[in-house]
Amino acid sequence: MKIITTVKDLLNTSVCDSAGGKQIGMVPTMGALHEGHLSLIRRARSENDVVYVSIFVNPVQFSNAEDLEKYPRTLDEDLRLIGDLADYVFAPSVEEVFPVAPSEIYNFGTVSSVMEGASRPGHFNGVGVIVRRLLDWVRPHKAYFGEKDFQQIAVIREMCKQCRIFSEIVTCPIIREPNGLAMSSRNRRLSQHEFAVAANIHKILEESKRFNDVSEIVNYVESEMLKIPEFKLDYFQIADAQTLLPVDNFNSDNGVMGFITVFVGPVRLIDNVRYR
Ligand code: PAF
Repeated sequence: MKIITTVKDLLNTSVCDSAGGKQIGMVPTMGALHEGHLSLIRRARSENDVVYVSIFVNPVQFSNAEDLEKYPRTLDEDLRLIGDLADYVFAPSVEEVFPVAPSEIYNFGTVSSVMEGASRPGHFNGVGVIVRRLLDWVRPHKAYFGEKDFQQIAVIREMCKQCRIFSEIVTCPIIREPNGLAMSSRNRRLSQHEFAVAANIHKILEESKRFNDVSEIVNYVESEMLKIPEFKLDYFQIADAQTLLPVDNFNSDNGVMGFITVFVGPVRLIDNVRYR
């Protein structure tokens, strides 16, 4: 595996790979890698000739300065975990990616304005800015994203459609801790106690599947959340799995999912569940 830190080197390398007829896979990350990321990288390895992983804590997708500052940065450990699974790791500085502050303003429509979009203004614009640059520079045939950030995938698909980016967006299932908690780089910030309590997010969502009515599910999840003093529910929303707009029944042919965001102490965790 070779480490690349400049955009020029990244472009040169990916242009050579493309010219050599190689099938390119890319896994964009913000580092602090865990089994969830590694599942994406392994999938990319199995489906492509060359694999690029980017590690970049993208400042423009954080709406909260403390969240950005506290975001775990573990580059040496990340490189060790990646080992030979990737051919190239792109780990640039902020100045390299953004020589001037980016000014792009996208309109990704409703997929970016509900739920995470409403709770974190500017977040998805920042995701669009960085993912567009990365995919533009590497031009991967396939780019891999995890379904924990289900709404992010919808936003990235919309960005690719609007910006004429032709990488195939490949999605991979959530990987969970043995206690059921969805793996996330933010889990490192939980105390041992908070980590144990956070397992209830998935447990409650799974148990909510036994109800057949949307309002019953919402009542159940909200009341169970209130019973756990360490939790502060940001939102729980049942939505169409494609448009991400709220639904009050299970009639949609696109499927119906539940999306949750909970603060456990200072740490904001997200998860989702498919009902239909
Ligand atoms: O999901 C993430 O880790 C980030 O949002 C991404 C896609 C790497 C963009 O910074």
